[in-house]
Amino acid sequence: MKSLLLLILLEFFMTKNAASIKSNGRKLRRFTFKDDPKVKTARPVIGILTQEVSGNREIFGYGQYVASSYVKLIEEAGARVAPILMDQTPDDIEKLFYSINGLLLPGGQSMLNASRYMTVGKQLVELAIKSNQEGKVFPVWAECLGFELITIVVTRVDPKQGGQYNPELFTATNATNYTTTLQFHNIKKSQIFSKMPKEYIQFMEQVPFSYNNHLVGMNSKTFNRYEPLKEMFRITSTSRDRNGREYISSMEGKEYPFFVWHWHPSKPQYEWLSNLNIFHSMYSTRVIQWLIDFFMDNAVQNDHKFPSKQVEDNALIYKHPLLYTERLGSAMTEYHFINRIPYKTQFALGEQVYVKAGKDPEKGEARLKEIIRMGKGRQ
Ligand SMILES: *[C@@H]1O[C@H](CO)[C@@H](O)[C@H](O)[C@H]1NC(C)=O
Ligand SMILES: *[C@@H]1O[C@H](CO)[C@@H](O)[C@H](O)[C@H]1NC(C)=O
Ligand SMILES: *[C@@H]1O[C@H](CO)[C@@H](O)[C@H](O)[C@H]1NC(C)=O
Repeated sequence: MKSLLLLILLEFFMTKNAASIKSNGRKLRRFTFKDDPKVKTARPVIGILTQEVSGNREIFGYGQYVASSYVKLIEEAGARVAPILMDQTPDDIEKLFYSINGLLLPGGQSMLNASRYMTVGKQLVELAIKSNQEGKVFPVWAECLGFELITIVVTRVDPKQGGQYNPELFTATNATNYTTTLQFHNIKKSQIFSKMPKEYIQFMEQVPFSYNNHLVGMNSKTFNRYEPLKEMFRITSTSRDRNGREYISSMEGKEYPFFVWHWHPSKPQYEWLSNLNIFHSMYSTRVIQWLIDFFMDNAVQNDHKFPSKQVEDNALIYKHPLLYTERLGSAMTEYHFINRIPYKTQFALGEQVYVKAGKDPEKGEARLKEIIRMGKGRQ
C-alpha cells in the first residue's frame, strides 16, 4: 500500500517535471539535440573488431571474442555494439563499416605481423581516414594493440616487418601490469583535453591510475621521424615505464576524432581480476566516463545506418554468449564468445600460421557448449 502510494507520487512528480521541461522549447532542444544539424543519429552503433581467442585451447576453444569491458564502455555512453567478425571478406567488412557510426580497436595479444586483427583493422582504419577526409565524421577509439595497429597503418610500415615488435617503430618498455600517471602535452590544442574539467586532468597527472600492459612503446623521437604520423596526430600525453623510459601514452587526431591510448581506459570499471594492478577508484570511473562520452558525441554525428532492422539485429553483440571467463583462468572478467573460426579462408595475411586452429565444426559446437557450461554454470 505504502509503496503504491510512493509510486503514484513518483509518477505525478515525473509527469509534472516532464511537462515543465516541455513548456520551455529552447531548453528542451538543448537536452534532446533535436534540430541540432550536427546530430545524425539517436541510435548509434559502434563496431568493435574481434580477436582470436588465445590462451589454453583446451579450455577456451577456437573462436573469436570481444572482451565485455569494451562492450560495456560503449553501452555506458549510450550506444550499442556490433562485433566486426574477423573472418569476413573485405566486401562484408566494408558493408559493415557503412552501417556503424564509430570504431573501437581493442587491446589484446594478436601478433600484428600475421593476424586478421591487423588485416581487418588496417582496412577499417583506412576507411575511417577516408570518411573523415571526405568530411564525414567517423570516430575511432583505440587501446594498446589498437594504438600499435594505427601507428603501423599510418606510417605505412609493412606489418610483416615484425608487427608490434618492429624495432624501427617500437622500443622495449617495462610496462606490463603497470599503473602510472599521464604527463600532458598540447592540452590547449587538444580537442578532447582542452574541454575536460581541470580536476580530472589533475587527477590523471598526479594519481597513478592508468593501467598499462605492453612490452613495447613508441617514443616521441620515433613519432617525429614519421611525417604521416606527425601530420595526422598530436601527442597528448606521455608516461614513463618502470625504468623511467618515456613513451607516448595518448594521442589524438589533429583534424579527425581519433582517440588513441597505449593505456587501457576500459579496465578500471570492468576488469576485476585481483591479481592485476588495476587502480579502481571513483575518479577513474568519472574520468573515463567523460572520455567515452566525448567519443560518443562524435559518433552521433555520423549518419551510417544498417540497411534493415533485420540486418542490424543480426549484427549486434547480444546473440553471442557472455562468459564469466575470470573463472576459467582468463585475465578478463567476462567476454563474448563468438563461435566462428577466425581464419576460414585464404585471403588472410599469415593464414598459414593459423589455419590449423580447429577445423572440425562438430567438435567446435561441442566445445562451445562445454565452454558455456564452465563459464556460466559452475558455482
Ligand atoms: C611474427 O612475429 C613473431 C614474433 O616476433 C614470430 O615468432 C613469428 O614467426 C612471426 N610470424 C610471421 C608469419 O612472420
Ligand atoms: C622492470 O622493472 C622492475 C621494477 O623496477 C625491475 O625489477 C626489472 O628489472 C625491470 N625489467 C627490465 C627488463 O628492465
Ligand atoms: C600485477 O601487479 C601486482 C601488484 O604489483 C602483483 O601483485 C601481481 O602479482 C601482478 N600480476 C601479474 C599477473 O603479474
